[in-house]
Amino acid sequence: MIKVITYGTYDLLHYGHIRLLERAKALGDYLIVGVTADDYDKTRGKIDVQQSLMERIEAVRATGLADEIIVEEYEGQKIDDIKRYGVDIFAIGSDWKGKFDYLNEYCKVVYLDRTQGVSSTEIRAKGRDFRFGLVGEVAFLNKIEEESHYVSGLAVEAVYSKDSTLLSKRLRALAALTSTYEAFLDKVDLIYIASNPVRHFDQIKLALERGKHVLYESPLCLCRKEYDELTALARRNGVVLMEGIKTAFATAYSRLLLLIKSGKIGEVVSVDATCTSLKAIRQADDAWLEREWNSIYAWGPTALLPVFQILGTEYRYKHVSTSFLDKTHHFDLFSKIDFIFPHAVASIKVGKGIKSEGCLIISGTKGYVYVPAPWWKTEYFEIRYENASDNKRYFYQLDGEGIRYELVAFVNSVVMKKRDTYIEDGVSRAIVKVMEDFQNAVNQTEIDFVI
Ligand code: CTP
Repeated sequence: MIKVITYGTYDLLHYGHIRLLERAKALGDYLIVGVTADDYDKTRGKIDVQQSLMERIEAVRATGLADEIIVEEYEGQKIDDIKRYGVDIFAIGSDWKGKFDYLNEYCKVVYLDRTQGVSSTEIRAKGRDFRFGLVGEVAFLNKIEEESHYVSGLAVEAVYSKDSTLLSKRLRALAALTSTYEAFLDKVDLIYIASNPVRHFDQIKLALERGKHVLYESPLCLCRKEYDELTALARRNGVVLMEGIKTAFATAYSRLLLLIKSGKIGEVVSVDATCTSLKAIRQADDAWLEREWNSIYAWGPTALLPVFQILGTEYRYKHVSTSFLDKTHHFDLFSKIDFIFPHAVASIKVGKGIKSEGCLIISGTKGYVYVPAPWWKTEYFEIRYENASDNKRYFYQLDGEGIRYELVAFVNSVVMKKRDTYIEDGVSRAIVKVMEDFQNAVNQTEIDFVI
């Protein structure tokens, strides 16, 4: 019996796939089809696969062409499979010509002509040619633009910026073409907004009123009344309003949450998150204040994310200690917030123009999770126990700091007309509450206050 094996993602199964499978099957008596797992696809740069692994397997099964279906999960697995299943022929489309010659050592390698004019990428891009617009003054917009190239159907076509000094040449040129925010909105369908949070409410409200989908750099706004108004408006207008904390979209971070929920460290008793950066420029002119976010705006949402996602949002009270660079503009250089929950505690430290060890530690009754700096864009973490030989290390590749996964989730939410669930509504609202309480407290006293 001649055994043939072939591999693919088979997203939105199409005629090209079926023709490939038919010809692969005709090469022998028994066809094994390897369907690529999502994680493995991500590591090889395929990030916007639409269907789940189970849906893709079902589609391949439904063709009736595969005698056996396996899942491809890691690099190098093909050699293992060929040996394990006693494969005689490895078949693959001609778009891979030459790439798998190394398998000739184990079996015969056949490249089959690729069917012209059809691909999953093209099918995914259909109905998705979105005009994408960027709003803000921060250099981070340059990264968003770079990362948007990895997402099918997303092209930056307009920029609105009050001060484009930190933007790339291309974004600056686009910004120069747009005089008013209203004119900017007319040119786009989807926006990413990273303007100073004090401007978020007005800008996001207008965008939602005009039926634009909004991905915002957290926080959404600075008080809960505004939060409720904006989220209700998005619902009414049937548009997506999505929080963009890139950490939430990183594979390592989401796996870490699952491991904690499954009890790997027992009951969680404490979450400690520190986020700092050295980029604050110490001069308080107006342009600078427009561009620079204070510590609590810039880092608060990221640091609060694991606290609220792991311990929930029902804390009893919090204690804030802070030091200010500019009290009039509420620019805090460094702040520390301690939370008391019914059965746990948490603390976040955020700093701008301050440097500290940016790690995340989650302590439990059986062990603890240690995520080394910079934990907010991590690929790696450890679960540590009393007995060090029980320690476990986890690694998940992170491309583009999580930004491209965030953009894919945004576009998918728009296409499916359903917001993703990476960051729960309750968490977003709790983040806004911290911003609101912080502002109110700052107005009353200078340093060290209990809310
Ligand atoms: N294939 C083919 N003809 C096409 C598309 C795919 O013969 N028009 C073959 C590929 O060469 C591969 C198999 O089908 O052997 C599975 O390919 P896959 O990567 O899943 O499909 P694509 O349509 O190429 O997906 P994408 O656009 O995401 O790269």
